[in-house]
Amino acid sequence: MDFDLTDEQRLIKETAREFTDKEIVLQSRENARNHHFDIEMIKKVADQGYLGAIVPQEYGGAGLDYFSYGLVVEEIGRGDSAIRTVISVQTSLVCSGIVKFGTEEQKQKYLPKLCSGEWLGCFGLTEPDTGSDAANQKTRAKKTDSGWVLNGAKMWISMANYAKVALIFAQTDPALGHKGIACFLVDTDQPGYTAQTIEHKMGLQASDTGSISLEDVEVSDDEMLGDVGDGFKIAMSNLDSGRYSVAAGCVGICQGCVEESVRYSKEREQFGRPIASFQLVQAMIADMVLKTDASRMLVWRAGWLKDQGRPNTLETSIAKLHATEASLECANLAIQVHGGAGYVDDHPVERYFRDARVTTLYEGTSQIQKLIIGRAMTGINALVPA
Ligand code: CAA
Repeated sequence: MDFDLTDEQRLIKETAREFTDKEIVLQSRENARNHHFDIEMIKKVADQGYLGAIVPQEYGGAGLDYFSYGLVVEEIGRGDSAIRTVISVQTSLVCSGIVKFGTEEQKQKYLPKLCSGEWLGCFGLTEPDTGSDAANQKTRAKKTDSGWVLNGAKMWISMANYAKVALIFAQTDPALGHKGIACFLVDTDQPGYTAQTIEHKMGLQASDTGSISLEDVEVSDDEMLGDVGDGFKIAMSNLDSGRYSVAAGCVGICQGCVEESVRYSKEREQFGRPIASFQLVQAMIADMVLKTDASRMLVWRAGWLKDQGRPNTLETSIAKLHATEASLECANLAIQVHGGAGYVDDHPVERYFRDARVTTLYEGTSQIQKLIIGRAMTGINALVPA
């Protein structure tokens, strides 16, 4: 076992770090203040190859492995979770599914445009009445002679307003349960697709979150990803990738909390000396370092398993659960180290705290991750009545 990064991995991480510091960090506070979804910044992220990091180069991606993708996402997450969310959704929740389940025509049609940032994508699984119970899709797909007609609603969808292509999960036959779900690549310019911004979020002010209404939206047979009945499997598979990405981004938040707290505590003086010299401040920093290192190791393990082509749903859930909870705890501690200064947005720790909060909710709550872990350990599905 080797815990050292290779020269190539180190270069990928350093490049992402420099890019984040130069292009993201300086702008993120203003973007959050102005609730600005920064398309220009997203273009720069795309130019770096980060929107299609794990997509093969022949389809316009960067062709990175999952481990390296995690290194990039950690750095972006340290800079701005709103931008990291764009990467996670576009790369993991949208592109990874097209790579894995798409036909050659679909790969050629969608991936180059998604990787270049010309198009954005969104992941339409969650509905107003369907969150954790993702198999219980209320959106309906009805077969027609020429394709399908979709009707329903989606909720809490990142990039709903900006996406050109929406992965829409819909039930084709309620009697079949999750085996009736299909996934469609919906052109959002299609009549009947409307998106609306969800306002007044606690955090991720600079990311777009919306609801989607689907009224008699027509899609062709060619726009189905996989086959009828593959939809749930596609959603879960994409989430295996997305949860990894969220976890890596949260390692970035943890790391940012450590770095900001060390810097601030060495500058800030009380009782005639830097607060970094007080044992209780050092204890808070030590707690943050512990949570950061443990989270990072879990993310690295999940990434390594993915690159080996081995099952990793359990390890991804463990990484997601630990890193997202750790990011919240670290942000809370970092604010404590900063005192009153941490309660306003002069320092990034205030934004870390607000942005971290959603990570234990989206892409599967902490409770869902625990049930996935519990089921793997006991062999008992707690969601099925005994
Ligand atoms: N990969 C591939 N297939 C999988 C899988 C995986 N990781 N996990 C399960 N499946 C398959 C199973 O093998 C099974 O297939 P068969 O019927 O052929 O045997 C099928 O899917 C059903 O599996 P389960 O019995 O485990 O399904 P379940 O109904 O008990 O649900 C669950 C399991 C884990 C609770 C799941 O519903 C879940 O993850 N819920 C949370 C949903 C979620 O994360 N939503 C977030 C949406 S994204 C978002 O946040 C918006 C955004 O824009 C950021």
